[in-house]
Amino acid sequence: MQYIGIDLGTSAVKLLLVDDAGAVKKSVSREYPLRFPRPGWSEQDPEDWWNAVTDGLQELTENGRIPVAGVSAAGQMHGLVILDENDEVIRPAILWNDGRTEEETRWLNETVGTALLQAHTGNIAFAGFTAPKLLWLKKHEPENFNKIKKIMLPKDFITYRLTGAFVSDYSDAAGTLLLNVKEKRWSKEMCELCGVRETQLPALCESYEKAGAVKPDAAAATGLSAKTIVAAGAGDNAGAAVGTGAVINGRCNLSIGTSGTVFISADRFPEKTDPAIHNFAHANGKFHLMGCMLSAASCNGWFCKDVLNTSDFGGEQAKIPEDLPGRNDVYFLPYLMGERSPINDTFARGCFVGLRPDTKRDAMLLAVLEGVAFAIKDNFEAVKRCGVEVSGSTLVGGGAKNPLWRQIFADVLNLPLELPRTEEGPGYGAAMLAMVAAGAYPTVEACAEKLVKIRERILPDPERAALYAGRYEKFRLLYPALKETFRKLA
Ligand code: XUL
Repeated sequence: MQYIGIDLGTSAVKLLLVDDAGAVKKSVSREYPLRFPRPGWSEQDPEDWWNAVTDGLQELTENGRIPVAGVSAAGQMHGLVILDENDEVIRPAILWNDGRTEEETRWLNETVGTALLQAHTGNIAFAGFTAPKLLWLKKHEPENFNKIKKIMLPKDFITYRLTGAFVSDYSDAAGTLLLNVKEKRWSKEMCELCGVRETQLPALCESYEKAGAVKPDAAAATGLSAKTIVAAGAGDNAGAAVGTGAVINGRCNLSIGTSGTVFISADRFPEKTDPAIHNFAHANGKFHLMGCMLSAASCNGWFCKDVLNTSDFGGEQAKIPEDLPGRNDVYFLPYLMGERSPINDTFARGCFVGLRPDTKRDAMLLAVLEGVAFAIKDNFEAVKRCGVEVSGSTLVGGGAKNPLWRQIFADVLNLPLELPRTEEGPGYGAAMLAMVAAGAYPTVEACAEKLVKIRERILPDPERAALYAGRYEKFRLLYPALKETFRKLA
């Protein structure tokens, strides 16, 4: 039997057709616009997602000629999608990397207080989370807020359009700051604080459970059939973790996509937490810790395309002298969209430090790659404060396809990194969740055990790792020195 995994990303949706032995038979992708209507804002139109998904599904199913047993989506997390009583989208979705809620986030963390937030949800507030967005909407667009009948996350919008089921899964719901993660229920207290009713929120289930079947109109639009099972799916990071086998206690997956995430699977809700690190539910029915930086592979894309004016990323990198990594005295802070973990600062911005008259573009490009790796190391340090020692990790995402960059990650983190055989990220995990929902595998773990294979190990180079340890100590000085200045410049 064949299954489809949908990765509803920020720049594009990627759809994979996978058989139950794990072979990827075909993949298609469709881009859609990402809009920044004001500095720090980030929005997308849910109708663009739906059009891209239906179009991609028609191609993947060859207009319905290929039978599909199950489908599921892993989507960009935290986005606020709101529908009115006629099921019309009220306004563009406000995305995970949108920083407009600085005031609401500060109110939640400082006035309501992080202790209370942690007691109700397991987490503190970050600007990209859904709850501060609801508070922002209530204050700035009350007419839209009052029209809300349904609140959903990006991939839940796709599930809703496919099945008519108003459902979310725990891994994605955890990122709303409305879920009591440990007890896996919506938090009455948080709903009250944000002025929403539980009836406006989706029913909750596990990622690998069936959300519904494809409705006749959706079958006609997509080429799927009424017999196709739709699993609830997951947040994209939990989906990527399933697809890389990070479903066993302590296993780590590092994903370098538009965002950069450090994801650690945990059998139990963690006893010891660090406010910088998210405590979310996992797609295997358990939990995970996660640090998320907002601009990772996108920093490389920005520097090459928008600054150097080239799409030849490989050609640019080839100019970096072999002995420069570890000895570069240009530093880059990768906070192009402000930053989530660990600094939680919407005012932070990207910057280069240490430029000299002889600085060339190669040193600046290397600084970009290194800056992202140093900021990922900041997250590993925060994870350590939770009492978790990571001894190895898988590495996925656009950044993992870049040989120089993955060696830099291994050296900066001083950690062996494994590349999975199937580098399809969240979409592959989503297809696996559909397999479990359709009964092809009894559990997510059993499915991962069978399907996930490692193709290559990147070992840290001891000499470079030692050089980078010294550079990281310098990198760490920069944000604290600039923090107040960022605030003044904003
Ligand atoms: C995770 C997060 C991002 C998005 C990207 O908390 O905000 O990784 O899910 O799609």
